[in-house]
Amino acid sequence: MSLVFAFDVYGTLINTQGLVPKIESMIGESATRFSTRWREKQLEYAFRRGLMQSYQDFSVCTKEALEYTCLEMETTLTQAQKDELIQAYGCLPAFDDVKPALTKLKAAGTQVYAFSNGTKAAVARLLEHAGLDDYFIDIVSVDELQTFKPNPSVYQLFLDKTGADKANTWLVSSNSFDLIGALSFGLNAAWVKRSDKAIFDPWGMTASMTLSQLDELSALVLS
Ligand code: 2OP
Repeated sequence: MSLVFAFDVYGTLINTQGLVPKIESMIGESATRFSTRWREKQLEYAFRRGLMQSYQDFSVCTKEALEYTCLEMETTLTQAQKDELIQAYGCLPAFDDVKPALTKLKAAGTQVYAFSNGTKAAVARLLEHAGLDDYFIDIVSVDELQTFKPNPSVYQLFLDKTGADKANTWLVSSNSFDLIGALSFGLNAAWVKRSDKAIFDPWGMTASMTLSQLDELSALVLS
């Protein structure tokens, strides 16, 4: 049976730090710290909403996290600047290694899906904007279950929607919390570790495979 890949979107295919130049033009040199904190808070809000069973879609987590980051960093952005950032978040760029890797996987006939905390519409827009929409059979969004990764139910949703089985399914992600969620559910997990500084949470688990570039995934398919 052929392998099935579940590609995480934000932080794996799409660079969540892609707005740093725009933020820099608004607030100057603290832009990288601002962007990093915004992302951390967005994920924290998703985790908390999942635990509290108080679901709002991922774009709400993103907006509320932006507000929080402005407060924490005592950064004054006008409403127009905030709107501009939220608008731009919907068109974040892909990492450079994504298209070549997906091209190889497609040529090898593998089944490739996007699997995200983002809604189907938001992810479709991102992929289309990045010129990646043709590579995916479908988008599986947690929105259907109204909860977030790493709730085990969302990994089951992926299997249910795709008809894949655990043994042949690989979650591909840069996000350690997502990989650990998938491993603990029983999927294979490929860690996209683009930076030497990236840390896998020390929870006593290791990724099934670690890649420094997405392209290295094709070794799995061609082996
Ligand atoms: C995603 O699900 C975890 O944000 C990441 O796309």
